[in-house]
Amino acid sequence: MSELLSVKGVSAYYGGICALRDVTLHIDAGEIVSVLGANGAGKSTLLKCLSREMKIRQGEILLDGKPLPNKSYSVVESGMVIVPEGRQIFAKLTVWENLQIGCCLRRDRAGIAEDLERVYALFPRLKEREKQYGGLLSGGEQQMLAIARGLMARPRIMMLDEPSLGLAPIIVSQMMDILKNINSTGTTILLVEQNAKKALAISDRVYLMNVGRVVREGSAQEIASDGALMDAYLG
Ligand SMILES: Nc1ncnc2c1ncn2[C@@H]1O[C@H](COP(=O)(O)OP(=O)(O)OP(=O)(O)O)[C@@H](O)[C@H]1O
Ligand SMILES: [Mg+2]
Repeated sequence: MSELLSVKGVSAYYGGICALRDVTLHIDAGEIVSVLGANGAGKSTLLKCLSREMKIRQGEILLDGKPLPNKSYSVVESGMVIVPEGRQIFAKLTVWENLQIGCCLRRDRAGIAEDLERVYALFPRLKEREKQYGGLLSGGEQQMLAIARGLMARPRIMMLDEPSLGLAPIIVSQMMDILKNINSTGTTILLVEQNAKKALAISDRVYLMNVGRVVREGSAQEIASDGALMDAYLG
């Protein structure tokens, strides 16, 4: 496997508050990597830095061994997409229109049509509701729409911020299956979760964060079998 994304010694601040402290991690092509940790660990901040929504103060982020572009849209163009915390779908736009936003930087019409078919095959429910306003979907459907919108950018890396938040356990399981499926078609996944159990079940590797630092790295198996660690950091 080759290193697709690497984060080296990254620190980031909100004014004077340090939210990421010397964070180093990497993701290989084809992996599902989870970043786990309690409230305030810095997980969302890490994703904001990776999507260039937030400036880093120290360190560097490399994609394919080259510096990650500085503009958010260039990050998307270079193949990294974020499915943000709280879905952030457009309530007053239809499902179809929401999906179009996901591919607004693309010009390859044939590819876009192909991806729309693929997304509808993956989420038949969204096809059924194509003309419905996003705001009328259930929480689970809105999360599926947020993932589908991300896929419309045809990402190489999909980053998701707490996709399981507020969803019923059965919907969470379905969503994790879908992420596994997306990964099996070649998309690398970076998953940020508080729902450690469900995330561990589909992940290859895990980084554990606590108050802005990476405190542990390991295979999903290793981390899951460490009861004391799970209790200490993941409740
Ligand atoms: N906009 C902000 N302004 C100031 N401080 C912030 C801001 N957003 C986050 N922080 C602080 O930065 C730290 C990391 O927050 P972050 O949102 O990255 O954590 P998280 O791991 O995503 O937590 P959660 O699981 O609750 O989503 C916390 O101490 C938080 O209070
Ligand atoms: Mg968060």
